Amino acid sequence: MKIAILGGTGSLGKGLASRWIKAGHDVLIGSRDLEKAQESAKGLNLSNSSGMLNQEAAKSCELACLTVPFAHQENTLKSIGNALDNKIMIDATVPLMPPKVMRVQLPQEGSAALKAQSILGEKTIVVSAFQNISAELLQTDADIECDVLVAGDFIDARSTVISLAEDAGLTAWHAGPLCNSAAAEALTSILIAINKKHSLAHSGIKITGH
Ligand SMILES: NC(=O)c1ccc[n+]([C@@H]2O[C@H](COP(=O)([O-])OP(=O)(O)OC[C@H]3O[C@@H](n4cnc5c(N)ncnc54)[C@H](OP(=O)(O)O)[C@@H]3O)[C@@H](O)[C@H]2O)c1
Repeated sequence: MKIAILGGTGSLGKGLASRWIKAGHDVLIGSRDLEKAQESAKGLNLSNSSGMLNQEAAKSCELACLTVPFAHQENTLKSIGNALDNKIMIDATVPLMPPKVMRVQLPQEGSAALKAQSILGEKTIVVSAFQNISAELLQTDADIECDVLVAGDFIDARSTVISLAEDAGLTAWHAGPLCNSAAAEALTSILIAINKKHSLAHSGIKITGH
């Protein structure tokens, strides 16, 4: 698949890009700055990646993934116009509002994913995922125990994102409609609090049952 990572020069973007590239996908690293995007793509050291402006990456891709801080989610999405019409966009945004990142602070839309959907409009299918996965671990070949909760209003789109998570070496679950993304987004603040209070690195969640 041809995947654009908008804000792909950052920690999470690099982690997802490296794993998807190794799985054989073509990855377009998106940035506000062409040179930065090209440097990042070169740093990944594999032929199936290239760097471009976010708008160009969004236009050229089959599916996009947004990996920018919450404070820049709106501007980034507005900057790409309608380039994601009729495409899936994975939103990994966690609405952290520094300095109180251990406190759940969801936006007035209900979640970052719902906010993304309202900015992009109905022609784009927003699916949320990866909010609880450590970018640092993704950038290594380590086995990642933390599961991925995938929320979205269309089952086929969720299944596509679950496959992509599996391609990145992760276990992913159908977590229901897009409004349920609030739970995954909120969990991140809890995991940050657990890391701090229990001196852990990369705490995560695991779905159990049989
Ligand atoms: N880090 C993690 O472990 C992790 C895990 C799960 C989810 N998340 C979520 O994933 C998202 C990305 O996290 P991250 O740690 O990868 O973030 P990051 O490294 O701080 O930033 C990602 C990219 O966002 C772009 N950006 C920065 N400032 C911007 C601005 N003013 N306007 C527009 N774009 C700007 C930059 O790209 P350019 O300068 O190239 O444009 C930057 O490389 C966040 O919402 C975060 O909550 C992170």
